[in-house]
Amino acid sequence: MCGIIAYTGRDEAAPILLKGLKSLEYRGYDSAGIAVLNAEPHVSITKTPGRVEELERKVASENITGTSGIGHTRWATHGIVNEANAHPHTSCGSELVLVHNGIVENYLELRAELLDAGHKFTSETDSEIIVHLIESHMKDGASLEDATRRAAKRIRGAAAIVVATAGDPGRIVGLRLGNAGGIVVGIGKTGMVMASDLLAVLPHTRTVAYLDSGEMAIITPDTASFHDLDGGVIEKATIESDRSAEAAERGSFRHFMLKEIHEQAESTASAMRGRVDFENETVSLPDFPFSEEEIRRLDQVIIVGMGTSFHSAMMGAYMIEELVGIPARAENASEFRYRSPVLDENTLVVAVTQSGETADTLAAMEAARDGGAKQIAVCETEGSQATRMADGSLLIRAGQEIGVASTKTMTNTIVVLHLLALHLGRIRGSLGDETVADAVRELAALPGKVGDLLAAESTYEAIARRLATKRHLLYLGRGVMFPAALEGALKMKEIAYIHAEGYAAGEMKHGAIALISDLMPTIALAPAGPLREKMVSNVNEVKARGGEVIAVATEGDTMLPAVADEVIYLPPASVQMSAILSLVPMQLLAYYTALQLELDPDKPRNLAKTVTVE
Ligand code: F6R
Repeated sequence: MCGIIAYTGRDEAAPILLKGLKSLEYRGYDSAGIAVLNAEPHVSITKTPGRVEELERKVASENITGTSGIGHTRWATHGIVNEANAHPHTSCGSELVLVHNGIVENYLELRAELLDAGHKFTSETDSEIIVHLIESHMKDGASLEDATRRAAKRIRGAAAIVVATAGDPGRIVGLRLGNAGGIVVGIGKTGMVMASDLLAVLPHTRTVAYLDSGEMAIITPDTASFHDLDGGVIEKATIESDRSAEAAERGSFRHFMLKEIHEQAESTASAMRGRVDFENETVSLPDFPFSEEEIRRLDQVIIVGMGTSFHSAMMGAYMIEELVGIPARAENASEFRYRSPVLDENTLVVAVTQSGETADTLAAMEAARDGGAKQIAVCETEGSQATRMADGSLLIRAGQEIGVASTKTMTNTIVVLHLLALHLGRIRGSLGDETVADAVRELAALPGKVGDLLAAESTYEAIARRLATKRHLLYLGRGVMFPAALEGALKMKEIAYIHAEGYAAGEMKHGAIALISDLMPTIALAPAGPLREKMVSNVNEVKARGGEVIAVATEGDTMLPAVADEVIYLPPASVQMSAILSLVPMQLLAYYTALQLELDPDKPRNLAKTVTVE
């Protein structure tokens, strides 16, 4: 959700904050704002509804100077999208400025208390409560950091907060409470930075530290110190990030989403590096944290995630059940966290989260830990909360994803879950050497096949022109293709705003078939495999009711071209690889449909890339 940035150092703060906000904008783009502090003492606050670009124009028309400041890009929770509700928020005396990510759950109660004490509010946000709370503690004589700590003890809910005061412009305080998104502190040579995301820190420095829940950072131009909620000093190790800031550049691509779709040939290869031995045709996961003995003792695998990551979890569960032969199921993390799942030390919980910061997934991980399960995170972001909570992590190595709709991170996640299935199956003896070798040959061919699909882009563009005229779509799949159908529908909903239903093809007859007409085309995922004939029957059922069908079939299929209106071809591959490959045309169909409808696929309305609230 919201993106936060702070800088204090020797350079002018405004351009640094704006650049940081641009790289954080994928986290929220309802409004944006910065506050710049200088030694006069003076605070300049500029904010606007809409994009960072708009903020940049506004800032350019003002004469802002100062070498410290904070900034925010908002994904609205409390209060409509307008300038008053944009961050930074200020105290009554305007000397305190604050940006916030998260939700203050007891904000009504605190607001009433602060109003009674004479505080004046200028926004409808829950965030503004925090700056007034800090102000009231400072009036009692507390320092900025003590007042922030005291305020933190009053608010309920997860939060990431950054606050500064005109009275001490070179000193900025950041605090993390629970799982509302992280704060990364960057230790630079000419200044210190804090941000929600590593990407905004990398232009300044690769030396970083991550705040854990209940930790505070205090930065000045030359120092960064870390403290707990009682004021005790924490010795925090810094790490040298090997990430590049280039991910924040679009290059020659029209959108980040298109760039990221095109990166999949390379990124899938990256997920396999050091894990697949192509010469000896075997798979092993050196970063998997449990011993062979522990693997043999596992009696169930539960994969949790949200949204696209939940669809990856579903595909992973199919693969593990099939290849490892133990009970495996996917659970929506927001449901799992409130159930009473039966877990023990022989349960492996796999948390799928590209950001590593999704609130519901982190809560599911807490539930798994409390239940005594073993757990790993399958994650893009090293150092994120999920990687720190898990017993170990399998990094997906897709590279930072900026487009709000997940593409390459899903593909890489499934490659990694497939490797996990092969690793577990090999160790438990459910897979023989020859089966693993076949799978390795399939994996070796995957990046090339992804490249072939990308080369057929004009086919998807032509079909998208037709889909863009419809308001309803049905996506059908069976087995491991069912989550692919769900994902195809989700992509279409997210970026083209077309109502799209993903359905298990066998379920269609039990209700959804009533919707079939020439107004609702069906995308039928029917590549070669044991369930293809069943899918052909479903396609016939749709056709018999006047529905238009776009089939996704394997090259060489002779039946589907005879019944479907259009066919998208996948290269010949195993069912598991076909499920991964089918994602590429699904992504491009949604992308080109959004373009036809003149929508911005990188910034779909109402969405945020990292969902740090429940
Ligand atoms: C959809 C999408 C979301 C995320 C979901 C979980 O395109 O990106 O549905 O998959 O918010 O995010 P992570 O993987 O960061 O936990």
